[in-house]
Amino acid sequence: MTARLIDGKALAARRRAALAERVAALPFRPGLRVVRVGEDPASGVYVRNKDRAAREAGLESETLHLPEATTEPELLALVRRLNDDPAVDGILVQLPLPAHIRTEAVLDAIDPAKDVDGFHPVNQGALALGRPGLVPCTPRGVMLLLEEAGVSPRGARAVVVGRSTIVGKPAALLLLGGDATVTVAHSRTRDLAAECRRAEILVAAVGRAEMIRGDWVAPGATVIDVGINRTAEGRLVGDVAFAEALPHAGAITPVPGGVGPMTIACLLENTVQAALARRAPTRQGG
Ligand code: GUN
Repeated sequence: MTARLIDGKALAARRRAALAERVAALPFRPGLRVVRVGEDPASGVYVRNKDRAAREAGLESETLHLPEATTEPELLALVRRLNDDPAVDGILVQLPLPAHIRTEAVLDAIDPAKDVDGFHPVNQGALALGRPGLVPCTPRGVMLLLEEAGVSPRGARAVVVGRSTIVGKPAALLLLGGDATVTVAHSRTRDLAAECRRAEILVAAVGRAEMIRGDWVAPGATVIDVGINRTAEGRLVGDVAFAEALPHAGAITPVPGGVGPMTIACLLENTVQAALARRAPTRQGG
């Protein structure tokens, strides 16, 4: 048996097309600002893709590219200006930031109502409490991919490998919200292979190329691979050894073409959600 492929590219394209139709019917254009600081090459690619996808969906999008030498007060001043700009519904500060800028200080400065990444403590707190808010894009993409695969988290043993605030923790909370029995494994987990083998749903978000081997995947398990890593030979690979995992898994996301496109689709959806919520009388997400 070989695993079914979960096609994130196709699902993301469908969701973006559906969103474009919704946006076209709105009496206003939701506005997104993507902020990039410095010259991290991967960030350059991500930011361009986000900006292009936003325009294709009919959003009013602009990328603000600041020099590497930008100071923290300068970046904070920009964030506050965007917070106060009524034409701006969503603010995304691409990470990583240069080392001399405190990421937390910048993320905390973003108006939670415009925090389309869902990284602000208010939105992370809402997620932990199971309240409406803006949910981080990649973990939301993970949940949509499970749904696409016809895999319900309810009652399932889910193992999330990785505990970052961007992916691992929020993915674990979303799975818990979907009634999975969730284990969060990480670099200090004693027997990672054994933990992974217990998973009916395995979410890999460690950021290390092909770290999760094929025989760590239980027969028939659903594998969602969040990793995007470039090997020394220049190949793009996930956190899961894909070819090895194929004969074990029931369904698996490819890299590229799995989670990556979903992150962007969810960012656009979050921007529209933020735009609608900001215009609603109660100013609540959801
Ligand atoms: N860097 C890597 N992934 C992300 C993301 O989802 N959002 C932002 N802002 N930066 C990132």
